[in-house]
Amino acid sequence: MNQRRTALITGASGAIGAACAYRLARQGWDLLLHYRTERDETLTKNCTDAGARVGWWQADLSEDDWTDSLRDQLKDSGEVTGIVHAAGNTGEGLIARVSDDQIDRTLAIHVRAAAIIVRECSRHLLRARFGRIVLIGSTVGLSGNAGQSIYAAAKMGQIGLVRAWTREMARRGITSNVVAPGWIETDMTVDILNRNRDALENEIPAARIGQPDDVAAAVAFLMTEEAGYISGQTLPVNGGLWMV
Ligand SMILES: NC(=O)c1ccc[n+]([C@@H]2O[C@H](COP(=O)([O-])OP(=O)(O)OC[C@H]3O[C@@H](n4cnc5c(N)ncnc54)[C@H](OP(=O)(O)O)[C@@H]3O)[C@@H](O)[C@H]2O)c1
Repeated sequence: MNQRRTALITGASGAIGAACAYRLARQGWDLLLHYRTERDETLTKNCTDAGARVGWWQADLSEDDWTDSLRDQLKDSGEVTGIVHAAGNTGEGLIARVSDDQIDRTLAIHVRAAAIIVRECSRHLLRARFGRIVLIGSTVGLSGNAGQSIYAAAKMGQIGLVRAWTREMARRGITSNVVAPGWIETDMTVDILNRNRDALENEIPAARIGQPDDVAAAVAFLMTEEAGYISGQTLPVNGGLWMV
């Protein structure tokens, strides 16, 4: 990259967000990393060693009180022209038992937060005439899954966001895409994988569970200058489990 650029990565305290951060640091991005519970100082060190300037921003994105703190953070962090939204929760259970609160929080983290973050960065993006937006969706948004109907709706909602943003902003050099992982080995999936690993590996054409860096590699490509003609798309990273 010729000039330094800053990427905001939500969920950088999680496995996929952290893998994206490290890839982007090595690709020449400075980073504004988001966490909810605890920042990852090993990640800070790795990214700093790779040459990135690193800042952190804390927010519970299922709440509705963090927009002002994001604005303050953006004032301090310089112009953000890359956004990777990797914060997320898991599914919620069968529809008969889903609470109002679970519905609200799941939609808030995946859809409301993505929309607010992009809105708050949009002035910079449009002025820069360059931007890379990647939302971490899910193969479940494409295939559906029992016990994850709100999660699936939220992930499909992200696909709607990037398609609409493409129509609004692609002419200004701003691309918007979803990367849709399948089974990836992280804290989010560890219990299910421990119980069902063999069955899942049999079902996946690539015959293995994905790693966070499998997702980060796709994200890092979509964040390059060279990926500037790819927008509004959903890229599954799932070993062939679900094909579009
Ligand atoms: N792992 C998979 O198989 C898989 C498959 C498809 C899609 N995905 C998607 O990939 C993304 C990353 O997941 P992951 O596998 O990396 O999981 P992870 O390691 O559990 O990380 C989840 C991240 O989301 C953050 N987060 C959770 N609830 C939040 C909230 N209410 N407000 C703000 N941040 C919150 C966590 O923050 P703290 O840790 O700081 O609390 C953490 O940074 C998610 O959107 C997930 O839906 C994952």
